[in-house]
Amino acid sequence: MKIVAFAAPVLAASMLMAADKPGDAGKGKEVFAANCVVCHNADNNVKKTGPGLKGLYKRDKLNSGAKVTDAAVMKVINEGVETMPAYSDILSDEERRHVLAYLKTL
Ligand code: HEC
Repeated sequence: MKIVAFAAPVLAASMLMAADKPGDAGKGKEVFAANCVVCHNADNNVKKTGPGLKGLYKRDKLNSGAKVTDAAVMKVINEGVETMPAYSDILSDEERRHVLAYLKTL
């Protein structure tokens, strides 16, 4: 019982800290492969169902006309666009931060 009493606050604290941590691009690549690659190429700009995302962060604007910022890209991931599903309920906060970090490397 002592161990549980000790572990619970530590776990809660590390979960709180995780909320502020930047994403891990390596993990994001796995999230992308599992969820996004069916509709998006990552290594070129050839359109599948959605646009190829190579160089996304080097572009001036998203297709919506919004500037390419973390907030704007996260909004697309969270809320979806056209036939792209909203990922706010499908992926955890952490997974979405990982995939955002990965998109920056493209
Ligand atoms: C069912 C197909 C589908 C899936 C799955 C999908 N998307 Fe999309 N995505 C789209 C479509 C369609 C658009 C809108 C294209 C447009 O605006 O012309 C889009 C747009 C985007 C954009 C904006 C691109 C731009 O230049 O405006 C980003 C970023 C994006 N998706 C990321 C993701 C990520 C990350 C995932 C996985 C978590 C994902 N998408 C999963 C279809 C999909």
